Amino acid sequence: MSTHSDSRPRRTFAVISHPDAGKSTLTEALALHAEVIGEAGAVHGKGHRKATVSDWMEMEKARGISITSAALQFEYEGHVVNLVDTPGHADFSEDTYRVLSAVDSAVMLVDAAKGLEPQTLKLFQVCAHRGIPVVTVINKWDRPGLDPFGLMDSIQQQIGLRPTPLTWPVGEAGDFRGVLDRRSGDYIAYTRTAGGATKAPEKRMDAAAARASVGDLWDEAEEGHELLSMDGADHDQETFLAGRTTPVLFGSALQNFGVAQILDILLDLAPPPGPTPAVDGSVREVGDDFSAFVFKVQSGMNAAHRDRLAYARVCSGVFERGMVATHAATGRPFTTKYAQAVFGRERASVEIALPGDIIGLVNAHALRVGDTIHAGRAVTYPPIASFAPEHFATVAVTDTGRWKQFRKGMEQLDQEGVIQVLRSELRGEHAPVLAAVGPMQFEVVQARLESEYQAPVRLEHLHYQMARRVEPEQAAEVGALRDVEVMTRTDGTLLALFPDKWRLQAIERLNPHLRLHSLVAG
Ligand code: G4P
Repeated sequence: MSTHSDSRPRRTFAVISHPDAGKSTLTEALALHAEVIGEAGAVHGKGHRKATVSDWMEMEKARGISITSAALQFEYEGHVVNLVDTPGHADFSEDTYRVLSAVDSAVMLVDAAKGLEPQTLKLFQVCAHRGIPVVTVINKWDRPGLDPFGLMDSIQQQIGLRPTPLTWPVGEAGDFRGVLDRRSGDYIAYTRTAGGATKAPEKRMDAAAARASVGDLWDEAEEGHELLSMDGADHDQETFLAGRTTPVLFGSALQNFGVAQILDILLDLAPPPGPTPAVDGSVREVGDDFSAFVFKVQSGMNAAHRDRLAYARVCSGVFERGMVATHAATGRPFTTKYAQAVFGRERASVEIALPGDIIGLVNAHALRVGDTIHAGRAVTYPPIASFAPEHFATVAVTDTGRWKQFRKGMEQLDQEGVIQVLRSELRGEHAPVLAAVGPMQFEVVQARLESEYQAPVRLEHLHYQMARRVEPEQAAEVGALRDVEVMTRTDGTLLALFPDKWRLQAIERLNPHLRLHSLVAG
């Protein structure tokens, strides 16, 4: 029945990094090397760079940032590459983590001078939990930075992944001459391009030419390469896919060096979309009937229209705009006339999408985060996990006459996955506690309660920073500890809140019998 003819293989990945490691710069450089098919949402622009401003909420406009997790789709060497954006900076939120449920691999971008940083570690933990293979890119090698062996050691020690460099730098950080391609033994010379604005062809040469060109520095790089091999740090596809090793590249996103190598590695080594496990334990093969799951829902993007956009990853089959799918949670038909590939101001219809692609479904009022839609044979995918909150606040309606609207709004935002809502008998039904991964989530809740439910609220931040899952039979004992509060999340999980990690560690030390479980990325 399908009339589509797009059979280009897909790669769907995200970049995980700490703010300022160079994600925006790399995204632009990737787009430069490839042919952009559609920009689903904003690559948040900074400075002189082009910003795709989405029209969501005044707050977003005022800050000049994009709250949207979106996808950039481009073509490279006959492949379609989907780069799903992980919002960072101030807009770090649960969505940042959820995006990782929609990708098949991740590029971990590390600043050569700073090494692994906290946000990278948190995102990495989510990848590890989900078994997503990670390619590491050491960025900013054009600037003074850490020793490459030291960086490799810190990756191994801090995240337990064995680094298996595919390239090794020639010249230390700040004296970047190029890289030794460990698979071919070639030298890829670093050529500076003005401001990284143009795509420079790679200058490759053999070892003899490299030695003639950079002398001792080449010998040093070869020594490094041999040391790595002796240590067993060579790429192994099986351990990479199993999430035990990480191939490493060295580059400079700003100077466009290493960018083509990243794309080549994604095509060569990163996994294509594969079968997706369903909730009943079966798997849905990519060639099966159409199915997709929603990993993000965004409401109120357009105040005039009460827009509601659901972002879904296609898992199997072919999505064709206009097809009628079934919403697995309700069994109701779901029309897809308004599927879009491009968000923000520059929306465009998506006609077809294959496994690995991201579609935006407009006015998808019934769809919630984690929901499945499908055609043909029924399938339901497992829900997306909730993540470890690190920010907590009480919320109270300022006008008690708006209590009903407030309650309705809270229920809706909770269901949408905008925020986690915790309750306890002690605080009472009227005083829920909001729990978030990033503080921006509080502002979104406050703004949406006010604009969509006309229920202005007052938020008060609580001093807790850590949450652990407790078992029901130990909840009372944990709750009785000084500085600790136990609350129930809407999904029934009991969470114990702690002021900081030192207090938590002290409690664990003094009460070894307590079972305090880490939450994902906690
Ligand atoms: P982010 O999205 O991860 O937050 O990082 P972004 O790309 O905005 O990069 C942060 C800063 O690091 C920018 O400088 C950017 O130019 C610089 N940068 C990124 N990649 C490289 C690299 O490979 N080498 C060097 N030397 N610098 C790099 P900025 O001064 O903060 O911003 P801008 O004024 O250049 O836009």
